[in-house]
Amino acid sequence: MSSNTKGIILAGGAGTRLHPMTKIMSKQLLPIYDRPMIYYPLSNLINCGIKEILIITTPEDQNSFIKLIGNGEQFDVKVEYEIQDKPEGIAQALIIAEHWLEGKNSILILGDNLFFGKNLQEVVLKAIEDNKGATIFAYQVNDPERFGVINFIGDKVDSIVEKPIEPKSNWVATGMYIFNEEASDLTKKLKKSDRDEYEITELNNIYLQNDKLNAVLLDDSFYWLDTGTPDSLLEASNRIKNLKDSNIIEDGELIK
Ligand code: TTP
Repeated sequence: MSSNTKGIILAGGAGTRLHPMTKIMSKQLLPIYDRPMIYYPLSNLINCGIKEILIITTPEDQNSFIKLIGNGEQFDVKVEYEIQDKPEGIAQALIIAEHWLEGKNSILILGDNLFFGKNLQEVVLKAIEDNKGATIFAYQVNDPERFGVINFIGDKVDSIVEKPIEPKSNWVATGMYIFNEEASDLTKKLKKSDRDEYEITELNNIYLQNDKLNAVLLDDSFYWLDTGTPDSLLEASNRIKNLKDSNIIEDGELIK
């Protein structure tokens, strides 16, 4: 049930690939077509009936997010804020959010990940209902080596490997995850990786070893857009304009 699930948007990070734009403002506040980037993941959560949302930002950018989104009243949700002092990994969001979560389940979405699809809302709600520990949403890409790649044996997930040199599949874990109440405690047991981060892939692999990981495969009727580089940022704006012009995305799906 989505009422037992709180939403977290992780919107910190350095955004180095988008310098100099991101030297003075957060990546997740940059425009994607006609809205600030964070409106897209925020819309996803709101559309799934998530009523309590935590936005995690850098210390420098928190005030700008508050100015934009406030307490969420205008969207009929409750929005609160936390700070990530340094970008020490996606999984760190679950440690930062620990007290706020009050032992509830969570859906974590990265502030620069854009998801669309006709029945996305139903798929996410079903995943929340079916979640037995953690759930990842997988998507097929041409450049899997940039992501956490999912290795399958038959149709079962065998492992997730972060940025492998030789990917064994082109299915990767996207930036949306569902976790049960164990997530903060499990994350606290993680050691930082060689790149000095608490790795979300490592957390998901723990759930997998405990036989508590679900993988929802999003086929190509869904869209997962990247916004991390100048080219993908421009491409995302163009794609969204096209999807809106052809009514694949309806304006009402997105908060204003
Ligand atoms: P990345 O794209 O991996 O990192 P980045 O946004 O800092 O960009 P760059 O590589 O160009 O420096 O992060 C993916 C998303 O996760 C993005 O929305 C930022 C967010 N993030 C955090 O908020 N904190 C973190 O510690 C990490 C690793 C990512």
